[in-house]
Amino acid sequence: MEGGVSAEPARFRAWMGRWPTGVSIVTAAEAGRRHGLTVNAFLSVALSPPTVLVSLSRDTDTEPVIARTGRFAVNLLAYDQRPLSERFARQVPPEEKFEGLPIREGRLGIPLLEGTLGSLECTLAQSFTSGDHQLLLGTVEQIVEGREAPPLLFYRSHYGESDPAGRLTLAGAPP
Ligand SMILES: Cc1cc2nc3c(=O)[nH]c(=O)nc-3n(C[C@H](O)[C@H](O)[C@H](O)COP(=O)(O)O)c2cc1C
Repeated sequence: MEGGVSAEPARFRAWMGRWPTGVSIVTAAEAGRRHGLTVNAFLSVALSPPTVLVSLSRDTDTEPVIARTGRFAVNLLAYDQRPLSERFARQVPPEEKFEGLPIREGRLGIPLLEGTLGSLECTLAQSFTSGDHQLLLGTVEQIVEGREAPPLLFYRSHYGESDPAGRLTLAGAPP
């Protein structure tokens, strides 16, 4: 194994790309306005009480909305929802992201995306600043079951290609 090199942000980002993830869309709402962004920094933290963590860049439009309203939802994308991931990763006004999408409102009043693998509605339990990101710990209040379908995957800056039978190809994978 080679020796280490200094942890510059671009190198760190590329290295982390070796860790495959699913893709989610984190949603929130304030004063009747919907917000959301694509997030792969999502994990389960505790079972009792059920707790998740999402890490959001502090310059996103959505993070301050969650800080003010104290609630958010995590919607897990299915293999055929790559267009949604791309749409919610664009820096456009929030209305444009939701335009024409089938949405329903969850019990906490947060927009939930249809056609996903499922959604979690959370209340904000704690929030920590870490560098240029905000770590949001959410207590899971509602579990919404979605489709039985393979997930959308992200690996080495590429989306995994998958068919309905769940056969996956990771485009960024070394031969
Ligand atoms: C696959 C993928 C994963 C992403 N994961 C995150 C993430 O975990 N946290 C984050 O802050 N941004 C993440 N982004 C970038 C945001 O989606 C992007 O900056 C978005 O424009 C922010 O939207 P907003 O400013 O309207 O809230 C990701 C983008 C992609 C394509």
